[in-house]
Amino acid sequence: MAYREYKFGTMMIGTLFVIVLSIVVLFPSLQMAKIPPTATAVQKSKDYGSESGWTLEDPMMTGDNRPTMIGKGKVVFIREGCWWCHTLLPEQTQDWQYFGAPPTAADFVGESPTVFGSDRKAPDLLHVGSRLPIKGWHLVHHANPRAVQPKSMMPAFNYLRKKDLDALADYMASLK
Ligand code: HEC
Repeated sequence: MAYREYKFGTMMIGTLFVIVLSIVVLFPSLQMAKIPPTATAVQKSKDYGSESGWTLEDPMMTGDNRPTMIGKGKVVFIREGCWWCHTLLPEQTQDWQYFGAPPTAADFVGESPTVFGSDRKAPDLLHVGSRLPIKGWHLVHHANPRAVQPKSMMPAFNYLRKKDLDALADYMASLK
């Protein structure tokens, strides 16, 4: 008897779960699948190869198995937590006047994961390669930000392997 009393409630909770999942996950991904990729999205898939997040083949996120230097740089960017301070998402406010145009959804078709970042504490980097195109500048700045910006509070990444620093600089320069 008791079981029957709970049956309706259980079914309602199950239905609610399915509805919420559809609204939050299923419908948006169906909608994204219909959007044709922009030239930026196509370029990014060439630059990064496939996945650049955590994978079973590369549990320590060394990025050494990536097909391109830019793809490796993106893995290092995620691993080192650059996205705790930097966003790759200029907003539709005064932001774009300095950081460049906000992206469109179609710019992210096929990209996994995206690195929109968290709460911004440092300059947006979506178009940093247009502002600062010289790889050597990034190499010096990543190893010791104070060398070029005396009051910078960005950590010095001089403990990284040379090939990681190299890949990071390539990744920065690719963000046009
Ligand atoms: C604790 C916060 C913090 C972290 C973590 C951090 N940065 Fe920064 N970054 C800053 C700040 C603040 C600035 C602005 C001052 C400067 O240029 O050093 C900056 C500036 C930059 C710039 C120059 C942007 C411009 O428009 O002038 C680049 C490129 C950059 N960071 C890359 C990185 C990369 C790559 C990482 C990870 C390896 C990283 N940052 C991690 C705080 C951070």
